[in-house]
Amino acid sequence: MSEKVINIEKKDSFFLLTINRPHALNALNSDVFNELEAFFSTFHGDYSVKGVVITGQGQKAFIAGADIKEFASLDAVTGSALSKRGQDVFFMIERFHAPVIAAVNGFALGGGCELAMSCHIRVAGTNARFGQPEVNLGLVPGYGGSQRLIQLIGKGKAIEMLLTTDMIDANESLRLGLVTHVVDSGQEVEKAFDILNKIAAKGPLAVHQCIQLVNAYFDKESNGFEKEYKNFGLTIGSEDAKEGALAFVEKRKPVFKAK
Ligand code: CAA
Repeated sequence: MSEKVINIEKKDSFFLLTINRPHALNALNSDVFNELEAFFSTFHGDYSVKGVVITGQGQKAFIAGADIKEFASLDAVTGSALSKRGQDVFFMIERFHAPVIAAVNGFALGGGCELAMSCHIRVAGTNARFGQPEVNLGLVPGYGGSQRLIQLIGKGKAIEMLLTTDMIDANESLRLGLVTHVVDSGQEVEKAFDILNKIAAKGPLAVHQCIQLVNAYFDKESNGFEKEYKNFGLTIGSEDAKEGALAFVEKRKPVFKAK
């Protein structure tokens, strides 16, 4: 059996996942994908899990990309399959019922930037560096980067980053909207848990459905407005919504049960 490449720590109703391949700057090899898939398929829909933080081991890199050393034997068919597999696992992150936050400590390049972008929220340390360097290798991004980068920072800046491969630092990524917080290097995980703690007090079904609605905006098969009125109906018919309204009237904090 292969050695574990992700440290998984349970912290109350949250999990901290640390990609643990520091000798390769936490590059994403097939073992990392297997472990991410196992984690997100096990816990998807388990409302006792109220959030996940993903970070990289050490202070040099969040994730320096896909593991380039696995590329040597790939051809058009196997390469396309590897890309599809990565996309599928990142969709599992993007569609997770509870918020997933990337705590970006150092380099987030190629697949690392793509993993961060599949998370719902990104927090950067001051040493974070984001980039999509695939064209340096004669490749295009394979794990959704060509699409999510445009979603997050717009076409003009995205195409420049993709073609020049210039990295952007934490402050530039904040200015562009790629991350929503910059904190002192080493404080990313703590900041991510602060955000999760805030969200954990909200209605869990409503949180899940907000995530679905935001995703629907970018899903060409979905009508986000139609989904919104349907989800509004689902949430307002829930026990949690009754509890939310009652708690408001009784001037107390609601106790949500994800029902
Ligand atoms: N895959 C495999 N190993 C990697 C790696 C990667 N993506 N990135 C770094 N490493 C390894 C290096 O080979 C090196 O290992 P050895 O000590 O065994 O030689 C170790 O990590 C440390 O790296 P460096 O010595 O290169 O460290 P540095 O400080 O000089 O440079 C860096 C840091 C600028 C991040 C540089 O490592 C780098 O450019 N890495 C590659 C980044 C990249 O191109 N990422 C995109 C990958 S392709 C992709 O992700 C495609 C996709 O979308 C699917």
